[in-house]
Amino acid sequence: MRPIEILKDVHWVGAIDWNIRDFHGYSIYRGTTYNAFLVVDEKVTLFDTVKQGFRSELLHHIRRIIDPTTVDYLVVNHVEMDHSGLVPEIVGLVKPEKIFCSERGKKALLAHFHREDWPYEVVGTGDTISLGKRTVQFIETRMLHWPDSMFSYIPEDRLLISSDAFGQHVATTERFDDEVDLSMLLGHAAKYYANIILPYSNLVQKLLSQVKEMDLKVDMIAPDHGLIWRGNPGKILACYDEWSQQRSKVKALVIYDTMWHSTEMMAKAIVDGLAQEGVSVQLFDLATNHRSDIITEVLDAGALVFGSPTLNNGMLPRMADLLHYMKGLRPASKIGAAFGSYGWSGEAVKLMNATMEEMRFMVIDPGINVQYVPAHDDLRKCVELGRRVAQALKEGV
Ligand code: FEO
Repeated sequence: MRPIEILKDVHWVGAIDWNIRDFHGYSIYRGTTYNAFLVVDEKVTLFDTVKQGFRSELLHHIRRIIDPTTVDYLVVNHVEMDHSGLVPEIVGLVKPEKIFCSERGKKALLAHFHREDWPYEVVGTGDTISLGKRTVQFIETRMLHWPDSMFSYIPEDRLLISSDAFGQHVATTERFDDEVDLSMLLGHAAKYYANIILPYSNLVQKLLSQVKEMDLKVDMIAPDHGLIWRGNPGKILACYDEWSQQRSKVKALVIYDTMWHSTEMMAKAIVDGLAQEGVSVQLFDLATNHRSDIITEVLDAGALVFGSPTLNNGMLPRMADLLHYMKGLRPASKIGAAFGSYGWSGEAVKLMNATMEEMRFMVIDPGINVQYVPAHDDLRKCVELGRRVAQALKEGV
């Protein structure tokens, strides 16, 4: 792979991680990239580094453009290890005159690498530095998605280097959105938003307002993962606006795990009830669907119905895993209901209801508990539950 000049004297020098499949619990079937950008100006500046293990790719790319020891500035937009893993080696090699980072970034760099002697230069929103022909304007984006996160904006190039925001986990040799299928790319961007950015949706709204107020002219958005938005950067901004408002569609998910197919039979009857009411519904068996794919669909689903049999006075482990993961992502404004089969105690439905209450779901029904195997009448009740959820969804309860 070669470095790619994304704008005159602005180069992508990152690394492609083709075979990574797990990103702290988020399944990434198409790998990812760790993007770093080299600006060759009077002050040669490297924006971010890459994950440890990709040293040769980063240095090979930089060397094809300049001697790495001529790098003057390093900008650390974000300290998570997939971008800062190579910072110690880069600092040791290039001995930068300055390392620009946010105040929280400096703290995080110290807590990661324990180097008081590095030439930190703390910057905040509104601070600008000159690279020669260009300037860099910094915008702190605290908690999007770490406290240290920030954007770097180069007005002369109308380029926003956006750290994790607007990223996608997808490994490609193409570097721009207009070189790939846009619907595929937006699907990956939605999954990324749902699994990483979702808990900070209110901050996304504030940031989008701030960017509007600042009247930034943006022709290109270069995130630290995946492809660069060049064809239509407004599209991903509009998607972030929509996703962060967490407006749900008339769409339901029925998510279940099953031991001997009783809960599965109930799940299918609930799907029937929802479909009879004309609601778009998807059925997910946790044995064959990854939590992070389900979360992608949660992004715009208005109703979630969870099913688990009772095992050892609790729910099945895969349901506990999903609910725990979902709770951390704080989806808003969902209608919920629960169901499951049991042998002799039947706590799973109560526990799923309790978790939904903790997530502030509108639990519209006490749920359905069936002993052992559902009879025809039990399945009729499940169809009715599906219909009630559909009606609540359509009424916008
Ligand atoms: Fe891609 Fe928060 O690191």
